[in-house]
Amino acid sequence: FPPERIRNFSIIAHIDHGKSTLADRLLELTDTISSAMKNKQVLDKLKVERERGITVKAQTATMVQEYKGEKYLLNLVDTPGHVDFSYEVSRSLAACQGCLLLVDACRGIQAQTLANFHLAFAQDLVIIPVINKIDLPTAEPERVVKQIESLLEMDSSSILQISAKSGMNCEGIIPSIIENIPCPTGNSKAPLRALVVDSWFDTYVGVISLMSIVDGTVKKGSAIMSANTGKRYEITEVGLMRPHGTPTTALYAGQVGYVVCNMKDAHELMSGDTFFDPQEPVEALPGFQVPKPMVFAGLFPMDTDDFTRLQEAITKLTLNDSSVQVKKETSTALGQGWRIGFLGTLHMDVFRQRLEQEYGAEVIITQPNVLYKERKTELLEPMVLATIVSPSDCLGQLLELCNSRRGEQQDLSYIDDTRVLLRFRMPMAEVVTDFYDELKSRSAGYASFDYEEMGYEHSDLVKMDVLLNSKPVDALAVIMHRSKTRYAGRELAAKLKRVIQRQLFEVAIQTSVNNKVIARETVSALRKNVTAKCYGGDVTRKMKLLNKQKEGKKRMKSIGSVQLSQDAFYTLMSKD
Ligand code: GTP
Repeated sequence: FPPERIRNFSIIAHIDHGKSTLADRLLELTDTISSAMKNKQVLDKLKVERERGITVKAQTATMVQEYKGEKYLLNLVDTPGHVDFSYEVSRSLAACQGCLLLVDACRGIQAQTLANFHLAFAQDLVIIPVINKIDLPTAEPERVVKQIESLLEMDSSSILQISAKSGMNCEGIIPSIIENIPCPTGNSKAPLRALVVDSWFDTYVGVISLMSIVDGTVKKGSAIMSANTGKRYEITEVGLMRPHGTPTTALYAGQVGYVVCNMKDAHELMSGDTFFDPQEPVEALPGFQVPKPMVFAGLFPMDTDDFTRLQEAITKLTLNDSSVQVKKETSTALGQGWRIGFLGTLHMDVFRQRLEQEYGAEVIITQPNVLYKERKTELLEPMVLATIVSPSDCLGQLLELCNSRRGEQQDLSYIDDTRVLLRFRMPMAEVVTDFYDELKSRSAGYASFDYEEMGYEHSDLVKMDVLLNSKPVDALAVIMHRSKTRYAGRELAAKLKRVIQRQLFEVAIQTSVNNKVIARETVSALRKNVTAKCYGGDVTRKMKLLNKQKEGKKRMKSIGSVQLSQDAFYTLMSKD
């Protein structure tokens, strides 16, 4: 295939607007998969993705289609749809010359539609707007046409209206891609420049990378070098995703395909990296970043005997996802575990779910936190710009939510007569807790949300300590904004009172900031003699009771003289 007959494109959309369904339809229309596999959503390979209905790792498929007597090679580069993965979206888009912007005809333009549109626009891609789900009785395609015109400033004559589910009007998509999206401009004879779009780990062959060949040719037996690490590799296989890996003799400029080389550690490869021929070094392609974790949480085995098994599972999972950062950590309360850095809270939930589903590991994840920076004696906290699209009848509720999370309004505009667009600058720490859940509940599920990083800012942050009988409990200390300490301090003290079992003496619970007590609760001492129960009963009953006590002891942790059960810690520290 000469470059003139290649098209590289992606589908970008807000979550649930039908991206996977449309991808399947295109694979079917081009006979890449038979219609027998209908609705299987072949691009979503992992179980967790199917269950959550989201695409976590970008994957791709190559299709061949005849149009006006010529055969075309169409590369669909799949993109993840969620806010946590915007860097991966931009890497996928870097391999394309155009994209389909898919909008649900009932829901209209949402926060991630806007975010993805801006990413594609910034990369000068040709954008083909597509309105999906027009088969639904609640579809309002005319309203969505107006939104696309006014909000994205696009010409309504270019908009396609389809049902990816029923297939209605879908036959018009491929001609539109071939006619409107430019072909790649690379030269197969020039020195090699290949952009890493994605990678995954295979137990048998090691790291497999998905590359967009910008210039040059890669084939089995040739050598390549990473611009990021300077490491050199020998290629053992190249091929196209159709949609499963199919070996070919070579990949030429303009193509997107997979490359296998002698790389065994996924951390040697990152999306956005450039590979070249060690004999002909070239400048790296622009836009490469090392993805940086933004949200951190402690991860501990539910049962301490599981530590080694969990360690292995984490190692395997991070082989597949190099954006996860792992460090060992020991907590006095929860024992040996890890501190793990994620791109965002969704990324964290997906990671936990995969540990549980694929490795059967039972874990506890502590409340997520962000990374504060220290400058002289001040603490700085990371900020984000939040974009919210919502029905206008819950505007008041959402403004109140954003204000209560220390948000600063940047924009409030009407998308049409029933929908508003809000932009707030707010601390990331306020977003990583339950912000998203609150947003959903206050808008009956209708508000959508996206955020981008906005650097660090000085803030009045303090450490809130927790004391049991005057002894500080390190595991429960938290950094927060001064304005939040009064409420949070009272709440935590009350929660502690509920989970601490009564002991033989009184337990004083205190929360404090800079040695000043904010709240105090007391757990009164036990009055009855529990051992009295042991007298008089039959022997087996006694044994049972003793064993139970032993079991309980094993799980108890002492904080000074106060005993706290493992379960109490779980309740206090876990995310849910
Ligand atoms: P993510 O992978 O989470 O980003 O979602 P997605 O954008 O890939 O959406 P997906 O294809 O999973 O579709 C979401 C839901 O909408 C599914 O229940 C689909 O069956 C449904 N759906 C998709 N297209 C259509 C359509 O044209 N009409 C109708 N009625 N339903 C559709």
